[in-house]
Amino acid sequence: RSYRVAILGATGAVGTELLDLLASRNFPIADLKLLASPRSAGCQLSFQGECLPVEVVTEQSFDQVDLVLASAGASTSRLWAAKAVAAGAVVIDNSSAFRLNPEVPLVVPEVNPQAAATHEGIIANPNCTTILLSLAVWPLHRVQPIQRLVVATYQSASGAGARAMEELKNQAQAILQGEAPQSEIFPYPLAFNLFPHNSQLNDQGYCEEELKMVNETRKIFATPNLRVTATCVRVPVLRAHSEAINLEFSQPFAVEKARSILSQAPGIKLVEDWQANYFPMPMEASGQDAVLVGRIRQDISHACGLELWLSGDQIRKGAALNAVQIAELLVTQSWLRPAVTLAR
Ligand code: A2P
Repeated sequence: RSYRVAILGATGAVGTELLDLLASRNFPIADLKLLASPRSAGCQLSFQGECLPVEVVTEQSFDQVDLVLASAGASTSRLWAAKAVAAGAVVIDNSSAFRLNPEVPLVVPEVNPQAAATHEGIIANPNCTTILLSLAVWPLHRVQPIQRLVVATYQSASGAGARAMEELKNQAQAILQGEAPQSEIFPYPLAFNLFPHNSQLNDQGYCEEELKMVNETRKIFATPNLRVTATCVRVPVLRAHSEAINLEFSQPFAVEKARSILSQAPGIKLVEDWQANYFPMPMEASGQDAVLVGRIRQDISHACGLELWLSGDQIRKGAALNAVQIAELLVTQSWLRPAVTLAR
């Protein structure tokens, strides 16, 4: 059987990647609708060699749609997701709108696929940094539960969308030409610079992005009390995020054992050449499905500590690929069914 699919936010950085992945992974599509804002009225995007019109999302957009892949920001999802569910569609939502809603599964297929079975029309795709983190940490946590997780991120411009990537390029060009860099999307120049993530700060001094990592990791791992702290930083990389991860266990975790577990873990590629000082890099992770993990070492400050480093494509596994994998999971497990009770 094949499915009627809509992409909400089809013109964005994640939306265009969703189109590519649906085509390259041969997702069974009967009909594909591309939805965006009035800004994109009249645009066309190509899918499997065909030019498809981009439609402005309206009340009628979700009639006769089985599956919506939404990546148009939290306010757009809040506005349209319930309408899509009421029309009989299942929504896989890439925004933060529903991630911490207890009724909404938050799914990384390699980590907690079963959570998707209980959906009531909406399944949330976690924050990009959390997806990458969970792929590297879950296989170790399963073997020996983590006591505490400390992570620092090095996040690329792509996390702020296609226009942010353009802004970084324009800023770099301006600076190289001796001109002042212009910032519209970012609060400060990102080219040849970096700054702590500019999402809203709470009164404990944590920004939203950091709290997403804390709360979403706890939800995905089903460990509500896991001790997690994060520092998120935006760096002048176009695409692919990196993370420095420190894990504390209750007993020592042998580096060789961790390496062997991670070398067989799904969705991960081990990248380590200690002689050459060669480890995961965002430039090499860009465009790859696998999250690159390496630099696995004993924490010299703690007998039960492990250090890891990763780079992963934020737009692919950090967003679009994870969403398409959730869609594939729904199809193979026959979980792609309308939320009848919620729609009434
Ligand atoms: P548009 O291109 O018409 O603005 P990115 O994350 O790369 O910035 O992309 C965001 C995506 O979300 C784009 O496809 C954008 O469409 C879409 N979008 C943003 N706001 C809305 C809205 N209010 N209604 C529908 N789509 C929206």
